Amino acid sequence: MTITITSVEAADEAAVEQAYQISAAQVAADEPDFPAPCRQRFAALLRHPMPGYETIMLLARIDGTPAGFLRLDLPQLDNTENASVELIVHPAQRRRGVGRTLAEHGLGLLRERGRRRVSAMSRAELAGETGRRSPGNAFAAAIGAVDALTDVRRRLTVADLDQARLDALLADARRRAVGYEVLRWRGRTPDDLAADVAYLDGRLLADAPMGDLAWEPERVDAERLRGTELALDARGRRRYHVGVRHEASGRLVAWTLLDVGASADWHSFQQITIVDPEHRGHRLGLLSKIENLRHLLAHEPAVRVIDTFNAASNDHMITINEQLGFRVRDRWSNWQLDV
Ligand SMILES: CC(C)(COP(=O)(O)OP(=O)(O)OC[C@H]1O[C@@H](n2cnc3c(N)ncnc32)[C@H](O)[C@@H]1OP(=O)(O)O)[C@@H](O)C(=O)NCCC(=O)NCCS
Repeated sequence: MTITITSVEAADEAAVEQAYQISAAQVAADEPDFPAPCRQRFAALLRHPMPGYETIMLLARIDGTPAGFLRLDLPQLDNTENASVELIVHPAQRRRGVGRTLAEHGLGLLRERGRRRVSAMSRAELAGETGRRSPGNAFAAAIGAVDALTDVRRRLTVADLDQARLDALLADARRRAVGYEVLRWRGRTPDDLAADVAYLDGRLLADAPMGDLAWEPERVDAERLRGTELALDARGRRRYHVGVRHEASGRLVAWTLLDVGASADWHSFQQITIVDPEHRGHRLGLLSKIENLRHLLAHEPAVRVIDTFNAASNDHMITINEQLGFRVRDRWSNWQLDV
């Protein structure tokens, strides 16, 4: 048995498709309640990286058969000693050393580029089972990585939404949010809001609990925001935003984003939600999330479930999510390894 590793060029459609097929087999086996990975998004990860990132992909073959891949994302504008990775081995090819071989090649590449730490995420337990460690967590522990932050995924089932309760929560939030105006938009952010959205986006990692993950806040300006929007367009993500404007200053002080992928109209992710620290305590988080939930469902009537990830310690955000009807599905580990 011979394991070979090659790097995948973005233009090599056959190799990108082989890696995609591994990803699809992995999701079907390990994450059965997620949609199949979106082919458009998968190809764009390599062809259209996020601005300020270099993306490298390695493909492993066992005796010529595609068996696993490693995607490395190297930040260029901030976090220049860090990298994040996705490591996937086809379910039929596991425990044959492919994961370890890919990890060793990846670590070599990262050392050459002066990176000092690498992080990756994996579901902590087997799908649908509590107490049985997932292969990802067993593998990460075996190669010496440290579990630096626990995230919890919660899911909202649209059919279970209690609209009367949401009405009551919204009315209460509006009473606490006098002097603030709700704005809605889809896709790219309007020009007059771009600088404020970039500022809020950049604050996100400064404000969210990061556990022991050594990841510095990202430097985001309007130009980087535009680059990110183009990259999300290339991935086919349909995006629904609500922002809250402070009427006295004219500034956008809260922002939340839900999105839907190109290949699964039934599934949405609740992404970013952030309220500027100076404007907390006015229920702007709850207000913007309920408004955006309704904004999304008005345009995406096929959405049946919405998933969201929060650090297990992010009490404020979790309280809001539970009020909306999100319920725990599973726990995820954020691993960190010294290169
Ligand atoms: C994690 C994953 C990449 C491992 O790939 P793999 O090719 O099976 O890994 P290897 O064969 O190189 O295993 C290396 C060591 O990891 C440990 N390990 C891997 N899978 C394990 C499992 N299911 N149970 C216990 N230990 C495991 C073992 O110590 C193993 O060495 P051994 O086989 O000599 O005992 C693969 O299971 C996968 O794709 N999982 C889903 C995605 C994921 O979680 N990625 C990792 C994110 S950190």
